[in-house]
Amino acid sequence: MQKLAIQGGNPLHGEVFISGAKNAALPIMCASLLSAEPLRLSNVPDLHDVSTMRKLLQQMGVDADVQGENLTLSGANVNKLEAPYDMVKTMRASVLVLGPLVARFGEAMVSLPGGCAIGSRPVDLHIKGLQAMGAQITIEHGYIHAKAKRLKGARIFFDIVSVTGTENLMMAAALADGVTVLENAAREPEVVDLANCLIEMGANISGAGSDTITIAGVEKLHGAEYRILPDRIESGTFLVAAAATGGSITLRNTSADILDTVLEKLTEAGARLSIEADTIHLEMQGRPKSVNLRTSPYPAFPTDMQAQFMALNTIADGSAMMVETIFENRFMHVQELRRLGAQIDVEGNTALVRGVPCLEGATVMATDLRASASLVIAGLVAQGETVIDRIYHLDRGYAHIEAKLSKLGASIRRLK
Ligand code: UD1
Repeated sequence: MQKLAIQGGNPLHGEVFISGAKNAALPIMCASLLSAEPLRLSNVPDLHDVSTMRKLLQQMGVDADVQGENLTLSGANVNKLEAPYDMVKTMRASVLVLGPLVARFGEAMVSLPGGCAIGSRPVDLHIKGLQAMGAQITIEHGYIHAKAKRLKGARIFFDIVSVTGTENLMMAAALADGVTVLENAAREPEVVDLANCLIEMGANISGAGSDTITIAGVEKLHGAEYRILPDRIESGTFLVAAAATGGSITLRNTSADILDTVLEKLTEAGARLSIEADTIHLEMQGRPKSVNLRTSPYPAFPTDMQAQFMALNTIADGSAMMVETIFENRFMHVQELRRLGAQIDVEGNTALVRGVPCLEGATVMATDLRASASLVIAGLVAQGETVIDRIYHLDRGYAHIEAKLSKLGASIRRLK
């Protein structure tokens, strides 16, 4: 199993190019199932999850052509309407094939994802929404088996805001008969990116980015060209790493508009930020100040940035209350951060982090994607060497992380 070894203590300096957003690329790739014509994507991040999704689509008969960050997917020859357990268990986003398959082919067999490290994460809202659109759904041998002659437009209310739930039903509704209204829909920028791509493919969608999305179904979607938006979580992760190490970095190919709460928290921590077109510059002098935060659906503070800010708070001046409201088990990094000398108490979904002047390097274990990112940040500030085991979690969501960090002056290497 591969590991990362980090020699802490170097402030990050320089420029880093932000990749396309994982959480936009994955649903948009699934949109290729909705049309027989090619979908030409650019700014596609070079990530493990993206290649897993590509393999899943290829297994179904989608033709894929990868040229660096360009990916062309063609759904002309889809012949297998199944997402097997082996793939879904490694990547929950595989469930995003469900809506497009039922909408275009009238049938789908998708494995139930089961639990994952950060919580139980059910898909009941995806299922209920498709049922409301007329799909017959049975659960057989751990698989969701969905059937529908043609889905029908419906009014669907989400009692919990769900990102992939909104995306799955938006794709299904794009080819349904009649109008679908998604209420209490997710407002994440990645939902908007998917909607924009579907619109390029001929879908009739309005309201994406608000909590009510209206989709008037069309008979057919066509091919399109689409550029994936920048990854706001990768952007935030590099900014927090620079702030924690007392560095000065410039992010290129990013977007400050979709990072409001994260930038606000960084400013509260004492960072100086300047923003220009697709560039964000951060400068940090001295020790960061502790920041309280509470995760919530967009536009509030993202759960995918909670672990990284916890790493920052471990060495900040003061104490911080951090409340996780989205996933029930998303403090797995706490035990590992404690191994580096962090002082953190957890009570239910609240962590109290008391900042210490410095962390000390140790061997730690990555438990999930964003937890791994927090351990990297902690390793960058800790005195001595930190070795992070199980970094396959990191490779799922961060493109060339050690190359990007090395270029910024970090002392980091992969142990194979
Ligand atoms: C997406 C993101 C993930 C992010 C999360 C929250 C992708 C590929 N992943 O995950 O990085 O951390 O949004 O911003 O975009 N829920 C139900 N029933 C459902 C669906 C969800 O109860 O059918 C609950 C979940 O357990 C969770 C909450 O709703 O407590 C939000 O989950 P959701 O937005 O669906 O997360 P994902 O879409 O899986």
